[in-house]
Amino acid sequence: MNETLVASTFRQDVLKGLSAPHKYLLSKYFYDAKGDALFQQIMRCPEYYLTRAEAEILVLQSSQILQRCLDVDHPFDIVELGAGDGSKTIFLLKEALRMNGSQQYYPIDISPDILSYLKQTLTPKLPGMQISSLAGEYFTQLEQLQTISDQPKLVLFLGATVGNMLPDEALQFFQQLKSFLREGDHLLVGFDLKKNPQTILNAYNDAGGLTKAFNLNLLHRINRELGADFNPDQFTHYPMYDPIAGSCKSYLISRCAQQVTFDNGTVIKFDWDEPIYMEVSQKYSLADIHQLALQAGFKQVDAFFDCRHQFTDVLWRVPNSELLPGQ
Ligand code: AVI
Repeated sequence: MNETLVASTFRQDVLKGLSAPHKYLLSKYFYDAKGDALFQQIMRCPEYYLTRAEAEILVLQSSQILQRCLDVDHPFDIVELGAGDGSKTIFLLKEALRMNGSQQYYPIDISPDILSYLKQTLTPKLPGMQISSLAGEYFTQLEQLQTISDQPKLVLFLGATVGNMLPDEALQFFQQLKSFLREGDHLLVGFDLKKNPQTILNAYNDAGGLTKAFNLNLLHRINRELGADFNPDQFTHYPMYDPIAGSCKSYLISRCAQQVTFDNGTVIKFDWDEPIYMEVSQKYSLADIHQLALQAGFKQVDAFFDCRHQFTDVLWRVPNSELLPGQ
């Protein structure tokens, strides 16, 4: 997408969300330069256990993960959706190189900047690995990849990014993803597990106020890019966790009756205590994950855990079609 199109989609999405009967904003817009920096800080803060838990899995169990999914004597592609800076993936890539199974890594990310950073930092650390960055939307880039390589694939979707979709959206996402894969291809997905509700809530309500700033930053971004006049101090960060649904949701609550004007003249009114729904971070049980794999048409091969069983990276395979549905 070119820059003008990106800006007009951002405007449309924001105005659509703020004009809805229950106001919402899309969390994919959290990630401008400031949002990226805040997320890096969140990942290092004491309450946000997810990143450390998944890093532990990849540091200690990459060899087992690769052995479970690939015939390491044959070349294969490792494809990563939402690769970011690749700081956790490097452990798996190093292991893949050591086992001499893969020389091809295709990181896919919406941000060309993060991909060029990733390539610069990973190339010297992974001699022999061919890194071919694909900047853009996941499915567009997967379609493109089909024309470049027909090797077996291991697709990575790490970091609990799937949690930022509602369960129905996640199911649709995996069904669509499967249409880009072939029988025998594998998918490694990072899920945050249901656990003590307070542990989860704390991860999205850190004492240092980073998650609050991360949410409020979207209002600053809207002011800057869409010429709005939000006063972020007039909104409170309100995270809540429903332990049965497994959904951790963040809201910004209007602290007074107020209105916000955009540079195109649009005025959005807020009631006192009116919420804006900002983000879902969905948590899963092992049964939920099995069910999702089955519904999306994958076979679960294995699940890898950190030592506290807070997080799991699950390995799914595209089964032979004649084995479905009983497998
Ligand atoms: C990117 N994503 C998996 C993070 C999460 O845990 O939902 C985003 C995040 N939001 C608040 N803190 C972290």
